[in-house]
Order: sequence, then structure tokens, then C-alpha cells
Amino acid sequence: MSDRLHIFDTTLRDGEQSPGCSMNIEEKMRVAHALDGLGVDIIEAGFPVASPGDFEAVHRIASEIKHARIAGLARAAEKDIERAAEAVKPAGDRARIHTFIATSPIHMQAKLRMSPEQVLDRAVAAVKQARSLAPEVEFSAEDAGRSDIDFLCRIVEATIAAGARVINIPDTVGYMIPEEFGARISELIERVPNADQAIFSVHCHNDLGLAVANSIAAVVNGARQVECTINGLGERAGNASLEEVVMILRTRSDRFDIETGIDTTRIVPASKLVSQITGMPIQANKAIVGANAFAHESGIHQDGVLKHQKTYEIMTPESVGWNTNRMVLGKHSGRAALKARYAELGIELEAEQLKTVFDRFKILADKKKDIFDEDLMAILSSDSEVDTERVKLVSLHAASGTGDTPVAAVELDIEGRIHKATGEGDGPVDAAFKAIKSLVEPNGKLLLYAVNAITAGTDAQGEVTVRLQDGDRIVNGQGSDTDIVVASAKALISALNKLPNMHAKEVHAQYSGV
Ligand code: KIV
Ligand code: ZN
Repeated sequence: MSDRLHIFDTTLRDGEQSPGCSMNIEEKMRVAHALDGLGVDIIEAGFPVASPGDFEAVHRIASEIKHARIAGLARAAEKDIERAAEAVKPAGDRARIHTFIATSPIHMQAKLRMSPEQVLDRAVAAVKQARSLAPEVEFSAEDAGRSDIDFLCRIVEATIAAGARVINIPDTVGYMIPEEFGARISELIERVPNADQAIFSVHCHNDLGLAVANSIAAVVNGARQVECTINGLGERAGNASLEEVVMILRTRSDRFDIETGIDTTRIVPASKLVSQITGMPIQANKAIVGANAFAHESGIHQDGVLKHQKTYEIMTPESVGWNTNRMVLGKHSGRAALKARYAELGIELEAEQLKTVFDRFKILADKKKDIFDEDLMAILSSDSEVDTERVKLVSLHAASGTGDTPVAAVELDIEGRIHKATGEGDGPVDAAFKAIKSLVEPNGKLLLYAVNAITAGTDAQGEVTVRLQDGDRIVNGQGSDTDIVVASAKALISALNKLPNMHAKEVHAQYSGV
């Protein structure tokens, strides 16, 4: 019998802590459904005490998600634990409170200003309180990688005795190397007398590029839960990437007799969804999910793969969701086919949403012969907020050419009133941005503008990500269209809609057609 590794996905909590990756509640719901379809065992849905928005997102995920366990993060503090318990409650017996406190000397002295005994007492009290409010409790010893091993053994034993059934050993600052981290896990399991009453988990950060290697070393040494994120998102350099951990275990099943519950064919769609929503591009040479992960450039490699796929491929692209069922949709495809394809991508559309999405699909199919999965995801991204947007694009005309100053004219619907403006710029996108920005305030500082052709061909949709900063708030917007200037305008408007106080400017430029 093979062993089971629990996949704990923290894309919606640690992943969301990546700079510029914050998601709104609808976006979180879409990611949560994709994670559930992917088969993760636990979804860490957020940090409920952090804000009312975080609380609401965790509560809604706990209410709607029907398979995965739902965890809410809480510091070892009464209020945090109460809020986390309330937020995860709708998940019933699948609810988990994940409480943590730092255990390394530097964190205890400099951050918490507490003695090790005080930290131990606080951890035990937190686990007891959490256990009285939720069916399952996970305890994390933050910065366990740099903690004293004797103290770590004591706090792990005490928190298991207090009721924690999952003990997480985070390498919070990504300092460990695989050999020592693996040894740390096996020493804990060996020395803690009640270790058999808990599942040991790891949570590795990627500051030295070792998050996945450290997680695998921990699994070799007895860890049976790995905390990870889609595309390796997470604080600073990120967390261990889910797709790499899962595919290492599967591809090297000759070394690991360990299974996960992941449907690997859903990895690439989930990765694309998270990238589109967060605006965090996937580097082309990223393992498993990068655009080049299965691209063979050199003649020798191409020749080898054509003769036998296994010459240069250790897993098939189809096994991780590349090019699976390229049932290409087009303008003759019906509503049922569209709904079925979304379901295969892990997205169940409600009747009302299907109607809107189908209309958008038909508009796109008129402009573009073949509609690929990437197009469908883009349709969904642009659809998700349309109804709640305060600003909508009504029309856009841009003109540019050699020797001419690029100009753009826009018409926006701002809270039900039509506003018009023109702009000049260094190019048609710049002109369109100036026109749009002249109509609203605050309009943020542009931090990132990225364009991606989401499928091949000159009729491909361009997908644009725009990141804006307004004070300490950073927001992302996405837009897609076969016209790159329109895609850019939609992305800017989508980001502007996420600035809470954004409104129409009282005085703005007058419309003059171009
Ligand atoms: O990196 C870390 O230590 C964490 C904990 C809250 C688990 O994210
Ligand atoms: Zn972390």
C-alpha cells in the first residue's frame, strides 16, 4: 500500500501575500473552485482576522467548497482564533484552524519579546482554544528552521498533547538546505514521544531556491503534508510550488511510494488561472507550467522526441494538462459544449453566468476562428467583474502611424453617466491610458504593464496585465481582446475599478473624435 501525502494549498493566503497579488472575493472564489477541482486536500483560504474582506472570503469558501478541508490562519491569540473559527465554521467537519507562533530565538526576542516558556504556554493555550472551537487544529512553529531543536521538540510535544493533529514545521525564511531540513524532520518524529498522534507538515520558502527540494527531503524523512502554492507564489521569493512537488512524486514513483489526490491534468489550467488573476506572469522556463517546459528547440532533441517521446521527456505534457482535449471551439459551438469545456477546466458555470459568458464567447468567435482554453479563461476573467464595475469601457478609437502623434478617444460609463476624453501619447496605448486617466481620480501610479499573446496566430487574443499603486494599495487589472489597445484599456479600467475611492473627475477634457 502506498502512503498518502496531503497537499495543503496556501495560494489564497501565503500566495496572496506576494507583492501585487491581492485578489478580490470573486477572484478568490474562482481560485478556490479550481483548487477543489484539482484535488488539493486542504485549502488555506486566508487570514480571517486580517480584514473584513479576508473574513468574508474565508467564510464564503468554507460555505461553497464541498471537497477540500478549509483552513483559516490565526496567530496564537484569542481574537484571531475566534475569527478563524467563525470563518471556517460552514465547512463543518472539514474546518481547520491553523494557529502559529514563532519559536526561533531571533523571532521570540526581537519580534514577540517573549521568553521560550511564555511562547510555549501561549501555543498550548491557543491550540486548546482552537480545539474547543473547530474539529481540527494545525499548529505551526514559525521559523522552525532556525529554532533550537530541543525547544522545538518540547513545543511540538506540548501542542500535540493539547490537541493539534497536524504539526507544521515551516522554513519561514528559506534558510535550510535539504539534508539538514530532512534530518530536522526525522529527529522531531523520532524524539517527540507522541509524534504518532499527528501528521507532520512542512512549509518551505524559496529564498535560496530550495523550497521544493527541502519539501521533498522532508517527505523522504516522514512528513506527510506539504504546504505549497500554485506557481510557487508566496511571500518574497515564494513558497514551494505545488506542481513541482506533485510531479516529482509522480514522475519518480520508483523512489517514492507516495500518492497525492491531485488530478495532474488540471495543473496547467489552474496555473494559468492563478497567473491571469494575480497578474503574476509564469516564467517561460518554469518547470511543468512554463511555456517552454515541453518545447524542444534543438534539432537533436526534436529528432529524438519524434522517434520516441521518452528520449527527452520524463513526463508527457498531457499528463499535466498541456494540450489535453484540444477540442477547439468555434462560432458554431453551442452553449452545452461551452459549459462542458469549462467543467473540464474545473469551472462550473451557473445558468446566469453561462448566459453572459456565452454572449462574450460568440463575440470573440466572430473575430477569431479557433477558441482555445486560454481564450475561455480570458473570457471568464473579463466577465467576472463586469456587473460590479463602477467604470466600464463604452468605446475606444486610437490612431497612430509613422510621423503622426498617436491619439486616442475614449468613452467611459462611470456609475451610469457617459464621460468622454481624448489623449495623446508616445504610442496608442499611452494615448488611451492618458485619456482614461484624465476621467477618474485617484488613478494610481503605473507599476507594471505586461502583454502576453495567449494563443498562437495573428488573430490571437492579447492579454494585458496592469498593476497600479495608490498609496499603500497595489491592485492588478487584466484585459484581453484581439486588439491590443482595447485589451490594454480594459486592463487599466479593471485595475482602476479595484481602487476603492476611485470616482469620476469633476472637470475633464472634452471629447473630440479622432
Ligand atoms: O512562513 C511561515 O512561517 C508561515 C506560517 C504562518 C506557517 O507562513
Ligand atoms: Zn509562509
